[in-house]
Amino acid sequence: MGKEEEYFGRLAARGVSRRSFMKYCTALTATMGLSAAYVPKVAEVFAQPTQRPPVVWLHFAECTGCSESLLRSQYPYVDDLVLEVLSLEYHETLMAAAGHQAEEALQAAVKKYDGKFICVVEGAVATAYDGGYGKVGGRTFLEIAKEVVPHAAATIAYGTCACFGGIQAAKPNPGGYKGVGDAIGVKTLNIPGCPPNPINLVGTIVNYLLLGKLPELDERGRPLFAYGKTVHDQCPRRAHFENGEFAESFGSPEAAMGYCLYKLGCRGPETYNNCPVAKFNDGTSWPVEAGAPCIGCSQPDFWDTMTPFYEEF
Ligand code: SF4
Ligand code: F3S
Repeated sequence: MGKEEEYFGRLAARGVSRRSFMKYCTALTATMGLSAAYVPKVAEVFAQPTQRPPVVWLHFAECTGCSESLLRSQYPYVDDLVLEVLSLEYHETLMAAAGHQAEEALQAAVKKYDGKFICVVEGAVATAYDGGYGKVGGRTFLEIAKEVVPHAAATIAYGTCACFGGIQAAKPNPGGYKGVGDAIGVKTLNIPGCPPNPINLVGTIVNYLLLGKLPELDERGRPLFAYGKTVHDQCPRRAHFENGEFAESFGSPEAAMGYCLYKLGCRGPETYNNCPVAKFNDGTSWPVEAGAPCIGCSQPDFWDTMTPFYEEF
């Protein structure tokens, strides 16, 4: 049996048909901004992987919600993504090793794949007091980031904390928390969100495997395919915004269903992300569709600049 047949056999055993897998690949291709002609090539990246780039995944100050959101992505199942498309050399929450063994695994991976691995960072880095506000295994996040990140072929900051500091960097920020790029002065590819949408990480990795390069970025290091437009520009409630019909004017939440949430504090007009089209939980819904105003979770400093969340700007 060929690799492709084996892959579809495994998906079938989990109740995923070839048809629904292709539907996912079509959605992923569209999210990446590629033409429909690329759909079979995108499918091949999963079904017939030819290269497995080594990945070192670091956790700093965060809630692990970003890993959680990735683990909830249905296609490809995370074990297929992790074990077949990527070669995951180090990930503190998924690996079996612990303690000294884990520390040795990190050092061995950096040495073995020097200049060749992709570093994914989750969480912010404390910079005040020599990074004393955040440690793993007795070493500061700052020390670990300085030791690992410069040896990577590319670094992906996954989640608003790793990109821009997130809640750790909110005022008064006594630990001097920053996103990993700012903390150690390197350029990172940023996939912000609290949590980010896993399809944007998968799209970035597939772009790298398919086209041999990282996607085009905006001035904040975010892939344009995902962060090129505001939430508001893509929102299905926008017609009501333009007509001045706001949820606030209706007597009950039921009557307000579907109306614009701007007067309830929606930050969609200031926030760059593809939530309305990519949605979460495999295309089930997204905050505004569920009736909650966007709180701007993918913007730098959103805890300071977008609060109080449920008040009109
Ligand atoms: Fe814009 Fe928010 Fe209104 Fe949607 S709900 S149209 S994102 S202001
Ligand atoms: Fe975040 Fe707003 Fe999307 S709160 S998840 S950027 S709709």
